[in-house]
Amino acid sequence: MIVDTDTGSDDAVALLLAAASGLADVRAVTTVAGNVPLATATRNALISLQTAGRPDVPVHEGCQSPMTRALSTAQHVHGQDGMGDLDLPDPLRAAEREHAVDVLLAAPRRLPGELTLVTLGPLTNLAAALLRDRDLLSRYRHVYCMAGAADLWGNVSATAEFNVWADPEAARVVLRAATPDQVTWIGWDVSRRDAVMTPADQLRMERLGTPMATFAHRVNRTVAEWARDVTGLSGYDLPDPVAMAVALRPELAVERERAYVDVALGDETRGQLIIDRRRSAPAPNLTLVRRVDETAFKQLLFDTCEGPR
Ligand code: BDR
Ligand code: CA
Repeated sequence: MIVDTDTGSDDAVALLLAAASGLADVRAVTTVAGNVPLATATRNALISLQTAGRPDVPVHEGCQSPMTRALSTAQHVHGQDGMGDLDLPDPLRAAEREHAVDVLLAAPRRLPGELTLVTLGPLTNLAAALLRDRDLLSRYRHVYCMAGAADLWGNVSATAEFNVWADPEAARVVLRAATPDQVTWIGWDVSRRDAVMTPADQLRMERLGTPMATFAHRVNRTVAEWARDVTGLSGYDLPDPVAMAVALRPELAVERERAYVDVALGDETRGQLIIDRRRSAPAPNLTLVRRVDETAFKQLLFDTCEGPR
């Protein structure tokens, strides 16, 4: 597996799942600007892998801004450091020299059809890679993206989800190259509907008391506060861990849809998915996950964070 991430607090938990669940062999992590500036995302990815007991996984920095737009972060949600403003110590290792886009291009050429790619941030790195190799998606076993809000229930606007909104041009590049057998998107609406970390779940995580559980609980401190105090929702959502869980165990996706999907670029609707369900629609280009198995997702989350028994 390769994970592309704008590591904020829920990306961090997704990295724990990838690196410590025993369900994947993580070969590299690539970083992109999104939730936080690029250097912060890289730092957080290194810290997360270290917490998962995998400091050996190479981390590669990628694009520091969206394709055509200015970077707009979500530090008001995830904390200035993207990790709940915990003042975490510096990681023991540094990032590699090779650029993330070069890694996304080269890795599946070495292992054709064997690597799963999971993207947890804006699609800038993947789009940049696709502009250099238009057949890239077919070189992966499958590509899973935490992206969009198929039910048009957004988190950054009424209808748009952050990762697509942050770099809609990149999202369009990916959609124009995708096929539903190669690419699956898991949207924010799914995590909000089926996988909310309720106050009881938060307490359970805190009480597990293992290093990974404590980390997963604490880095999401500001996200929990934001959900409670600003959005008025009970509990917070974990969109990246949900997407990662589907990549690790595809049967967790209990409802899917194949459709032709585009993304709106205009100011009022920026980042909104345009899902064409007409009989005359173009052939589907994407698989959208619509529901996940909440119980199985949380079992995987708690089991992983508990660590080896
Ligand atoms: C996405 O943006 C961030 O809040 C999360 O890390 C996730 O990747 C959800 O819209
Ligand atoms: Ca993310």
